[in-house]
This record gives sequence, C-alpha cells and structure tokens, in this order.
Amino acid sequence: MTYTDAINLMHEYTKSEALRKHMYSVEASMRAYARKFGEDEETWAIVGILHDFDYERYPTIPEHPLKGSEILKEKGYSEDICIAILGHASFTGVPRESLMARVLYACDELCGFITAVAIIRPNKIVDLEISSVKKKLKDKAFAKNVSREDIALGVKELNVPFDEHIKFVIDAMKTDKERLGL
Ligand SMILES: [Fe+2]
Ligand SMILES: [Fe+2]
Repeated sequence: MTYTDAINLMHEYTKSEALRKHMYSVEASMRAYARKFGEDEETWAIVGILHDFDYERYPTIPEHPLKGSEILKEKGYSEDICIAILGHASFTGVPRESLMARVLYACDELCGFITAVAIIRPNKIVDLEISSVKKKLKDKAFAKNVSREDIALGVKELNVPFDEHIKFVIDAMKTDKERLGL
C-alpha cells in the first residue's frame, strides 16, 4: 500500500477538516523523525496519516482504533503499521515496541497541543517558541482534553529530551504549515 492509497482512504473516512489536519500534522512529524532515524519515510507517513482515520466513523472506545486496524489489515496494510496504530491507544494493551510506534505515540497528543497553541497566535506556528508551548502545558485550563500524562509518557518512552522533542515537532509541523492552516 502506498502513501496515496493511505491518504485516499483517510479522506474517504474523514470529512472533518480539523481531524484531517491533525493527521497531516502527525504525518509531518513522523516523516521528520523517519528521516532523522534513517527509517522508511513512506511507511512512517502512512502510520501518521492513518492513525485516526476511523475516528470520525467510530469515535468510541474500543472501536477506535480496533475497527480501523481491522479495516487496514483487510486492505493489506502491514502488521507493523497496524501494531503501531493500535499502540497509540494505551487501552488496547498493545505494547509500543517498535521505534515507529513510540514516535507515533510521542507525537500524537503533542501535535494536537501545538496546533491548539499555534492556531490562536497572530503568526500561528511561524514564530512559536518552545517556552510558549511549555507555559501552556502548565495551564491546566488550556486545551484540557489533551492529556499531559500521555505527552510526558511519550517523551519518556522515546527517550529524548523534552525541549528537543517539542522543538523537533514544531519544526516538522512548520514544514507543512500551509496544509495545516498554521
Ligand atoms: Fe487516536
Ligand atoms: Fe491522533
């Protein structure tokens, strides 16, 4: 399965522009990390673009991401892709053993949070600093549906310095800012 197959499938299932943009943001981060670690960029991009593709149709636990993962398996997506996607929802109990699965988990909630911070700024993501993101993380009332615990656990599992990870994801999202509307 190619990236084009994956994005077409995501668009078929997801009509919400905000949710599409969330998946673009995770894709951008996955691509950047794949390049950094010398991994297969297309596979990592596919994981990013598809990780929530079933969410609009199946928003409840455990359907998302179990249902989506079944659909992907039927369509011939590889085991490592399905396992990484299952791993982004901790309740599945599927361990994040691969680097790809750990990166997905470390980027998912953080991408959502960075979007929430950037979207209300005059220059959006262009001049967004690590310090602004960290300040907002401490503000419990801000984007309160984003789990700070998940973000912290993701960074811990990836074993990278927190600031470095935030900077890396901001920079990755910047490279795709037109598509993200940021
Ligand atoms: Fe999800
Ligand atoms: Fe997500």
